[in-house]
Amino acid sequence: MAKLLALFVLGHALASVSSVSITEIQGTAFKSPLAGELVHNVTGTVASNGFYLVGPKSDDVRASNGLFIFTSSAPRVTVGDAVSLSGRVTEFRQAANPNYLFLTELTSPSNIVTLSSNNTITPVILGRDRSPPTRHFSALDVGPDGFLSVPNNSSLIEATNATLRPDRFGLDFWESLEGQLVTIPRPTATGFQNNFGDFWTYGSWPVTGRNSRGGLSLTFGPDGIPDGNPEVIDIGSPLDGTKNPQVAIGVQLSDITGVVTYQFGFYYVLPLTAPTVISRPSSAVNPTRLVSNRSPADACTITFGDYNVENLSPGSAHLPTIARHIVDYLRTPDLLFLQEIQDDSGPTDDGTVSANLTLSTLANAIQSFSGVKYSFTLVNPVDGQDGGQPGGNIRTAYMFRPEVLTLARSPAVGGPLDKVEVGGSRGRPSLNFNPGRIDPTHEIWNATRKPLVAHFETRHGQALFAVNIHLSSKGGSSSTQGDARPPVNSPIENRTGQINSIAGFVGDVIQRDSSANIIVAGDFNEFIQARSAYKPITRYLTDIDEAANIPQEERYSYIFDQNSQQLDHAMISSAIRRRRVEFEHVHLNTWAPTLAERISDHDPSVGRIRLC
Ligand SMILES: *[C@@H]1O[C@H](CO)[C@@H](O)[C@H](O)[C@H]1NC(C)=O
Ligand SMILES: *[C@@H]1O[C@H](CO)[C@@H](O)[C@H](O)[C@H]1NC(C)=O
Ligand SMILES: *[C@@H]1O[C@H](CO)[C@@H](O)[C@H](O)[C@H]1NC(C)=O
Ligand SMILES: *[C@@H]1O[C@H](CO)[C@@H](O)[C@H](O)[C@H]1NC(C)=O
Ligand SMILES: *[C@@H]1O[C@H](CO)[C@@H](O)[C@H](O)[C@H]1NC(C)=O
Ligand SMILES: *[C@@H]1O[C@H](CO)[C@@H](O)[C@H](O)[C@H]1NC(C)=O
Ligand SMILES: *[C@@H]1O[C@H](CO)[C@@H](O)[C@H](O)[C@H]1NC(C)=O
Ligand SMILES: *[C@@H]1O[C@H](CO)[C@@H](O)[C@H](O)[C@H]1NC(C)=O
Repeated sequence: MAKLLALFVLGHALASVSSVSITEIQGTAFKSPLAGELVHNVTGTVASNGFYLVGPKSDDVRASNGLFIFTSSAPRVTVGDAVSLSGRVTEFRQAANPNYLFLTELTSPSNIVTLSSNNTITPVILGRDRSPPTRHFSALDVGPDGFLSVPNNSSLIEATNATLRPDRFGLDFWESLEGQLVTIPRPTATGFQNNFGDFWTYGSWPVTGRNSRGGLSLTFGPDGIPDGNPEVIDIGSPLDGTKNPQVAIGVQLSDITGVVTYQFGFYYVLPLTAPTVISRPSSAVNPTRLVSNRSPADACTITFGDYNVENLSPGSAHLPTIARHIVDYLRTPDLLFLQEIQDDSGPTDDGTVSANLTLSTLANAIQSFSGVKYSFTLVNPVDGQDGGQPGGNIRTAYMFRPEVLTLARSPAVGGPLDKVEVGGSRGRPSLNFNPGRIDPTHEIWNATRKPLVAHFETRHGQALFAVNIHLSSKGGSSSTQGDARPPVNSPIENRTGQINSIAGFVGDVIQRDSSANIIVAGDFNEFIQARSAYKPITRYLTDIDEAANIPQEERYSYIFDQNSQQLDHAMISSAIRRRRVEFEHVHLNTWAPTLAERISDHDPSVGRIRLC
């Protein structure tokens, strides 16, 4: 340390620094102590033609002994060359994106002298020499909900420039290996590759939240704080120009040796060459066990499904497969909560708002595959006012089996701007509009889907109040590995307000009838671990995954970045919770063999509940 400081002072005095090691350039914090300095006689061995240099190790694991040398033309060095060179230490932020972290690199290299050739570099074997922490990304993710806490973006990594704590925090761990050559033994992919062939993986090292498919789920850690799985690392394009294979959750690959870098808002390992696939999990998905072919099971029990069908219109190529999913895997439950039903002209922006054709095309396909005839009910939105794909007018809708459920009588069917209100006598709540929308003109519902309430009755007279929702999406959120801490969770203040608005309606029903059967289900676009957002509703309702004792790791309906995660939830009133509750996630899409074969970005789910 004394030597480092001395060099630093000398560097300022002379405006250039002689004979520094790579570990001195990297330092022990996020930013280099020598940023901006000209440095000479930097020695190391070329790890890849890019090029990355690996120098002698220091005893301090926080200081990486790898470094990226930025060259504007192909360097005349070969892997295995030991070289000495000069250059300027630079903190580089890609694409001028202010939320990306800086990469320490050496620019304008000169005086490149090859000292010897054919040297070998021993990579750091992750899982043996060093293992990533498994719970938290950053010490700056303060708050009871960890990286999902509000306020978000209360500090910035680069401005704080903290000394690294690689034993505790994921970003610090990967930063401490920046530019290093590492080996990921026996990698498992945690999801599909992206359009560039990048994918997330963990190797043979301790992990948390592992689900039965081999992905890592967003869970709560033993400290009660959300665990975002910082032990998963992004794999980028191989440095030798080969192409990564197509992967999916649970696909096992040959060992990856590559260099650690930071790009596009994430830490990456860039493989020296593409790995090969060793095994793929079976693509078979079991149909739900909760729905029998003869519905209803008994006078008190009903089954329901929930499915975000991703921009479904009458002409959608995926419509027949969605119908197949409902028939073969959800087994035509009594009630379906559907999200992303588009209007009859799909994304054509021609003023159409009706979805009669979309829903009847789906109902007809289901009937042709199964003989089961569904009715449907919904409230059309005002054209262009509910967000989503332009022209598509996505909305939520119910399909229901009329031999099991009917819509309770009410004075009227709601229009798009009509506010549903709870009336009726004590113990027998009723609605002014059925179906109807919750507070549709309130600004919290501006430019998003309004919740669709329906009051159903079984043939035996049991009432069920259903709320089908699709809250504002997470678009505009920042990277889990970006500068802003906690990461920006956009627009969590809106989703919190929207949940509060729904809770207001639920509270009105419960006030009339404390033993009302209520389900709020759909695409919340929010993890249950973001507890602050759910606070308004958890005083009335319980997450059905919790009520049905689904293991934490198996609670997912979506995969994004490193995590298997749950955006789709069903929340039930205490009357339902008190009776037997069963629930299943049906992983038709997260388990698709390839990205191209995925039908929707969300998995559906199925529940079986008792209304009496
Ligand atoms: C680099 O090292 C060589 C030999 O050790 C020395 O002669 C030279 O002065 C050094 N160059 C600089 C710029 O420090
Ligand atoms: C970052 O922290 C390191 C180590 O404490 C220090 O040497 C360096 O000057 C800091 N850089 C900035 C820009 O604050
Ligand atoms: C490096 O090794 C290769 C083959 O292993 C050999 O052809 C080459 O001559 C060696 N180069 C040097 C400089 O030793
Ligand atoms: C989240 O961060 C964004 C960007 O800094 C800010 O506009 C927003 O108010 C923050 N929201 C919360 C709830 O902290
Ligand atoms: C976080 O807040 C800072 C201001 O403190 C702002 O400059 C930055 O753009 C915000 N980051 C994001 C991702 O919104
Ligand atoms: C949709 O169908 C319903 C009943 O089948 C009918 O009352 C309504 O007029 C139709 N709406 C449009 C816009 O075609
Ligand atoms: C968030 O809600 C406010 C009003 O409460 C609204 O003006 C704004 O457009 C909403 N933002 C998003 C991204 O939905
Ligand atoms: C509604 O949302 C739109 C689009 O996000 C925005 O331009 C507008 O200002 C918002 N209006 C209100 C009243 O919040």
